[in-house]
Amino acid sequence: MATMPETDPEFAAFLKTHPSYAQTRLLDELRSTEYARLDAGEHVYLDYTGAGLYAESQLRQHQELLRGHVFGNPHSSNPTSLDATRFVEHAREYVLRFFKADPAEYDVIFAQNASGALKLVGESYPFGPGSQYLLTFDNHNSVNGIREFAHARQAQITYIPLGLPDMRVEDAALEAFLRRADPSKPNLFAYPAQSNFSSVQHPLDWIELAHRLGWDVLLDAAAFTPTSELDLSEVAPDFVPLSFYKMFGYPTGVGALLARRSALARLHRPWFAGGTITVASVQADKYYLADGHQAFEDGTVDYLNIPAVEIGLRHLEVIGYPIIHERVRSLTGWLLDNLTRMTHTTGVPLVRVYGPITNEMRGGAVAVNFLDRNGQAIDHRTIETEAGKSNISLRTGCFCNPGAGEMALGISRVELDVCFTRPGHESRLSLDDFRLCIDGKNSGAVRISIGMVSNFQDVQAFLHFARRLLNVEFASLGAEAR
Ligand SMILES: Cc1ncc(COP(=O)(O)O)c(C=O)c1O
Repeated sequence: MATMPETDPEFAAFLKTHPSYAQTRLLDELRSTEYARLDAGEHVYLDYTGAGLYAESQLRQHQELLRGHVFGNPHSSNPTSLDATRFVEHAREYVLRFFKADPAEYDVIFAQNASGALKLVGESYPFGPGSQYLLTFDNHNSVNGIREFAHARQAQITYIPLGLPDMRVEDAALEAFLRRADPSKPNLFAYPAQSNFSSVQHPLDWIELAHRLGWDVLLDAAAFTPTSELDLSEVAPDFVPLSFYKMFGYPTGVGALLARRSALARLHRPWFAGGTITVASVQADKYYLADGHQAFEDGTVDYLNIPAVEIGLRHLEVIGYPIIHERVRSLTGWLLDNLTRMTHTTGVPLVRVYGPITNEMRGGAVAVNFLDRNGQAIDHRTIETEAGKSNISLRTGCFCNPGAGEMALGISRVELDVCFTRPGHESRLSLDDFRLCIDGKNSGAVRISIGMVSNFQDVQAFLHFARRLLNVEFASLGAEAR
């Protein structure tokens, strides 16, 4: 796909309403050089919240690095080991610098992904009777999962509901929840800087408020950092989990927990492993944990891939968040405006959007369900299949965010209880069983997410696909939408 000519009437209309898109041209050049495989394969990639894409130069630089060195296991002091350690530690420093985190205040723990980083917090947080785990309905399952550690240690678990239709939390409601903490106990408050469901960007000034009211703060930055700058000299969350493949596509298998050193010191690891101790004895049944990040990196870190994290971060830096942010903002605005304007001849709108329909305090993902001409929701799996036929990659389901899903789709606690307590559902429940159980309700949505190298044509291709769903009878969808 070549760059869009400004004479194209739709592109001209887009530029008129979103003139700042013109300042993001650098990304079109990059797309044709670094991401040419997208257009060569005629891909319409719209799942950037699922995974970012890598530039070819990232691969080249990483390969050159591996080719030019002999890296040994970093747990030694031989020359090859020292070289590996040097690159791992350099990447660690670079992560801190990238997020403007003061090394005296923050440490970086390399983990497998954001989920791995979250588990480190969950299993080590000193929950106990009288302490609390407070979290928004809007959270990824890997944040929800921490509640199992909290349950096991008799902490109180509280979910903060979302307001509809915007799927945000009211500041006053939040403050009321935060005021319920006993500041003499360990209390953990967790929320996403950006929702992976609605793309709402929850306020970062909650962090300071929560600190004042006696909470440690876990800010899930996995969906935020690919397109927005997180400046840890401005805000000081205690724990920040993220996955690097979401930011720049490569490598997979490496994430990080950025943690305030003071908060890290309050965690208790439930075990020790190779690499996490200074001394361990078999006969004396005794071990001494290492300090800081070392105590949290079990076994051998991914020392061949970690240097590629620094390469990816440099790549993002060269482009700069302002350009990425602006591109995503303008394309999301165009997508929302056009999608929400489409209506069947019956007057029924084509989509129901879950989350904000303006560009304010939101990221580049748009979660919707498609409605047929009679207002019936079309199964999200059908939409995914149909989009796939046009080589459009998008995500459907609940995106591992069941709380936001339940709120958006109006699935009540009673309905869920009925379903979960039905005979045969005590210990096993497949997704298909669940769908049958909440019969008549949609159990998921369609997420279209825009990212760093999205362009106008991608959005137009999706809008074209959406337009073909107008006035189509649900039963004939397969034939018509092709
Ligand atoms: C907001 C958010 N948190 C956490 C995760 C978990 O990331 P990972 O699957 O890389 O562990 C995701 C992944 O989609 C996410 O969007």
